[in-house]
Amino acid sequence: PPQLSLESFQSYLSTRRLGRAPAWPNELWESIDSTNNRAAELAARGAPEGVIVTARRQTSGRGRQGRVWLSPPDSGLYVSFLLRPQGPRSLLPMHTLACGVAAAKAIWQCVGVRIGLKWVNDLVIEGKKLGGILAEMPACAASGTASGDLPAPLILGVGINLRMSPSEIPEELRDRVEWLERCTQQPVDPNQLLAFLALFLEQEYDRLESGNSAEVIEGWKQFSVTLGREIRAASSGSTIEGTAVDLSDTGGLIVETRDGKRITLHAGEISIRAADGSYA
Ligand code: BTN
Repeated sequence: PPQLSLESFQSYLSTRRLGRAPAWPNELWESIDSTNNRAAELAARGAPEGVIVTARRQTSGRGRQGRVWLSPPDSGLYVSFLLRPQGPRSLLPMHTLACGVAAAKAIWQCVGVRIGLKWVNDLVIEGKKLGGILAEMPACAASGTASGDLPAPLILGVGINLRMSPSEIPEELRDRVEWLERCTQQPVDPNQLLAFLALFLEQEYDRLESGNSAEVIEGWKQFSVTLGREIRAASSGSTIEGTAVDLSDTGGLIVETRDGKRITLHAGEISIRAADGSYA
């Protein structure tokens, strides 16, 4: 199966700015702790917006909520994008959604598989997890550092499962995980997938930066597997249950509870109610 290489990926790249940072090369590591860590390091050294860090394997890949992101060699796409958004801080959560839209479009364009987006950062296929997004703002923009004059960095880390053998997956996750080649039944080229991801992320990011976040929300809704579903969420110490009815204009999830109250969730994890009444 095709492997990630900087040369091949860059030959497919058709972005204007992402992956084309002036005088700052993209990176591909054979092995690294976490591409998000590396991107944060580069940001602290003053790397400009647009740098892409990717790796064939990660030794401490991170998911949300302190979870581990298993990253065996060539089993997935592991990539981080360094951005320096200048829009209002209230829109920061929108970047996770924008990145989800970009991933859904890239996968569709690259291999013709339609994935779903589960609020806030999950890439899913038929309820199984295909990938996820980890957005982080490293605290390194203090004045006096190399990046003092630049807008604060935002790292968007994306993990997409490409090919896995069930033995690599911990038993308790085995029937909750999906990978692209199981859907396509043929090899997926990570270089093409990454080039499409960068292209669509650039498009969605441009929308946010030019004040068109409503378009990103529209795009997200087209892939949503969350809206209209019954969900359960932990919110400030208590559990809420209700129907996910809409997204707010900053990307929050609006939930209508049984007594008709509307609550907007801004972060955290939700579970979607399955046909058998269980929450997954
Ligand atoms: C999640 O669903 O919990 C988010 C998973 C994000 C994984 C990616 S892989 C590339 C980047 N580097 C990391 O350590 N994590 C993200």
